[in-house]
Amino acid sequence: MMPRYSVTVFAALLLGFSLSFFGSPVAQGAPSKHHHGLQTQPFGTQDGRPITLYTLTNSHGVEVRTMNYGGIILSMRMPNRKGQLADVVLGHDTLEGYVPNPPYIGALIGRYGNRIANGTFTLDGKTYTLPKNDGPNTLHGGVKRTFDKVVWDGAPLKGGKAGVTFTYLSKDGEEGFPGNVKVKVTYTLNDENELVIDYEATTDKATPINLTQHSYFNLAGEGTSDILNHEIMISADRFTPVDKNLIPTGELRAVKGTPLDFTTPMKIGARIDDNYEQLLLGHGYDHNFVINRQGDGMALAARVYEPTSGRVLEVSTTQPGVQFYTGNFLDGTVTGKQGHVYKRRYAFCLETQHFPDSPNHPEFPSTILKPGDTFQSKTIFKFSTR
Ligand code: GLA
Repeated sequence: MMPRYSVTVFAALLLGFSLSFFGSPVAQGAPSKHHHGLQTQPFGTQDGRPITLYTLTNSHGVEVRTMNYGGIILSMRMPNRKGQLADVVLGHDTLEGYVPNPPYIGALIGRYGNRIANGTFTLDGKTYTLPKNDGPNTLHGGVKRTFDKVVWDGAPLKGGKAGVTFTYLSKDGEEGFPGNVKVKVTYTLNDENELVIDYEATTDKATPINLTQHSYFNLAGEGTSDILNHEIMISADRFTPVDKNLIPTGELRAVKGTPLDFTTPMKIGARIDDNYEQLLLGHGYDHNFVINRQGDGMALAARVYEPTSGRVLEVSTTQPGVQFYTGNFLDGTVTGKQGHVYKRRYAFCLETQHFPDSPNHPEFPSTILKPGDTFQSKTIFKFSTR
C-alpha cells in the first residue's frame, strides 16, 4: 500500500494536477462531476504526512468526498426529488477547517465510540485508565491519538470501483487502551446511491473496540436550516436510558409511551423539547437505541425523510445500536462550508455502534476484541427520494 501511495503523491506533485487511477483520464483541478469511479487530489499535509482527498462518484453523478485525515467524509452530494444535487453533510472546505474538529464532524471514531464512564474499565482483572474529555467520561476514544485525529493510510479499491480503504495501526497503550490494533475501514459508493462502510479490526491483546462514523446530516442541504422538520423512523422498541453524565444506567427501556418512540415516522421536532427526563438530560435526543433485529445480519436502523427536498436516508447496519444525536451541542461557534454557521440542531447523526459504556456493562453485547478474532461490521447509508 505504501509504495503506491507515495508514487501517487509524488506524481501528483510533479505533474501539478490530480491523478486518476486505473488508466482513466487525468483531470485537472476539481474532479469532473461526470467521472465515474475514484479520483484523488493532494489536500495538504498533517503531522508531516500528505493528505489525499478521494472523490467517489457513481454513474448518477452522486459524489462523496473523503480524506485520510481522520477518515473524514467531507461531503455527500445527493439528488432531491427533481434530481438536483445538494451537499447533505456538515463539513469544511479545507483540511485546516478540520484541525481541530471538536464536534467530530464527518469523522471515523475509535477506539471506543461514545462514552466510557469515569474513563476506566477492567478487563481480565486489570484496570485501565483512559484520558477524560467529557466531564468524568472518555468520549470517542480519548484526547490525542483518536481515530478522528490521526493520519490513515489510504488505498483505492481495485477494479475501477468508487471506493477507498483506510488502514491504521493503533499502538499498544495508545490513549490508554491495550493491544496493537489494526483497523481497516472501506467506503464504497455504488450505483444504488448507497455509501457502504465496512469496518474490520484485529488485535494482539484483548481490548474494547467500538467503531462508528460521525457524519452530521441535513437532508435539506447543509447549513440551510435546523433538522426539526425532518421525519424519522427508528426501528427500535427499546433504548438505553442515561444518567446525568449521559452514561447508560443499564436499563433497556421500552420507547412506547415516551418521546423516544419513533417506531412510526414522526417529525424530529415534534417532542424534542418535551418535559421528559431523558430529553432534559440529553438537551434533546442523544440516545442509543437498541435496533430491532432478527439474527446478526443487516437490519434497518432508521429512515429519515425531508419533506421539502424529498430526500430519504436509510441507515442499515450489523451493529446492535444506533446513537441518535440531534446536534444539541452545536452552538454557532463552528463555521463550515461556504461560511455556513452550524447552529443548534442544524444536523442529526445516526452513529451505528455497540452500546455506550459496554466495557462497564457485562449485560450489554460485548465490545471486547480478542487476539485471533476479527471484528467486522457494516453500515449502509442509502439515499433515495420520495
Ligand atoms: C456523540 C455524543 C454527543 C456529542 C457528539 C459530539 O453523538 O453522543 O453527546 O458528544 O458525539 O459532539
